[in-house]
Amino acid sequence: MKCDQPRAGIVGLGTYVPERVLTNEELQQMVDTSDEWIRARTGIRERRVASPDEAASDLALVACQRALEDAGIGPDEIDLIIAATNTPDMLFPATACLLQDRIGAAGAGAFDLLAGCTGFIYGVAVGAQFITAGAARTVLVVGAEALTRIINWQDRNTCVLFGDGAGAVVLREVPGDRGILSTVLGADGSGARHLYMPAGGSRLPASAETVAKGLHYVHMNGREVFKFAVRAMEDGAREVLRRAGLTGADVDFLIPHQANIRIIEHAAKKMNLPMDRVAVNVDRYGNTSTASIPLALEESVKKGKIKDGDNVVMVGFGAGLTWAGLLIRWYDYKK
Ligand code: UT7
Repeated sequence: MKCDQPRAGIVGLGTYVPERVLTNEELQQMVDTSDEWIRARTGIRERRVASPDEAASDLALVACQRALEDAGIGPDEIDLIIAATNTPDMLFPATACLLQDRIGAAGAGAFDLLAGCTGFIYGVAVGAQFITAGAARTVLVVGAEALTRIINWQDRNTCVLFGDGAGAVVLREVPGDRGILSTVLGADGSGARHLYMPAGGSRLPASAETVAKGLHYVHMNGREVFKFAVRAMEDGAREVLRRAGLTGADVDFLIPHQANIRIIEHAAKKMNLPMDRVAVNVDRYGNTSTASIPLALEESVKKGKIKDGDNVVMVGFGAGLTWAGLLIRWYDYKK
């Protein structure tokens, strides 16, 4: 494919997961569940839990610093920071602003992006637009979650699923035919009630009553989200390929949002991809929401599963309900 306009691509990657591992065996002691059920229905074996003094920005900070180091770029070179998170340190100010200060990216623009678990792809798509439009040279996008802070540990429908972590990428213009070939962002707000945190916003401000009712926790209709997810993964991947004039046969590697191994396997099957060309980390980290795709991407790159020139599809879904796809022709910035 000829490239007639500058393309943004990834030129640095960094991740961080908290040290504390919470296994299914431990969860069995906490709530009416079993290792067998969790593995069979979700593929999860264990997840990470942030320590009491770690908030989303703390996880994000390490991931961002590692991404900058990987890129060989100083903080003063960053023009824009986009933090995709469902668990900001505070409702305001933006977690991205806290990061901007702590990274030392003086003067860089900074904002949070809320698009459920799809937030990382949304963030990369938005950041890439700034680069191709010439409005920014270097954009830092981070997905970071301290989800275990908003989990009801008595609710077996949700508490076995989520984990904490962060993953960051540095975006810049990349040479030749490499870089982001297409993106697609979608939403269906009619499904907002299927995955949400009822209290703590302007609709239902936090009060003793909301806390007593557990309305400051994640509430989810898992079956409805599952149905949406299966469709969204398929449609997102198909649409992002169509927009780039490619087909499933052109895909070298798939990085799906890591929520449930059954959803991942369904997406792989629909794309005719064997599982060794699909990133999986849900077994070790659970659903880390906006961090799941950058965590899986970094691991795949490090293991040499993604090589220069590979067409890589990222696809995700989440609260909103939202969905998104991104097709990137990998640029090996290390060579
Ligand atoms: O990133 C977006 C975030 N959310 C998601 O991606 C969630 C998508 N949905 C899912 O992954 C699946 O729907 C779940 C893993 C949440 C649930 O799996 P499922 O196969 O859809 O189970 P289900 O909700 O249909 O429940 C089946 C049974 C129920 O019991 P009954 O009513 O059949 O007696 C549940 O009460 O499994 C029960 N159950 C559990 N049992 C043991 C639900 N959670 C648990 C649990 N341990 N942790």
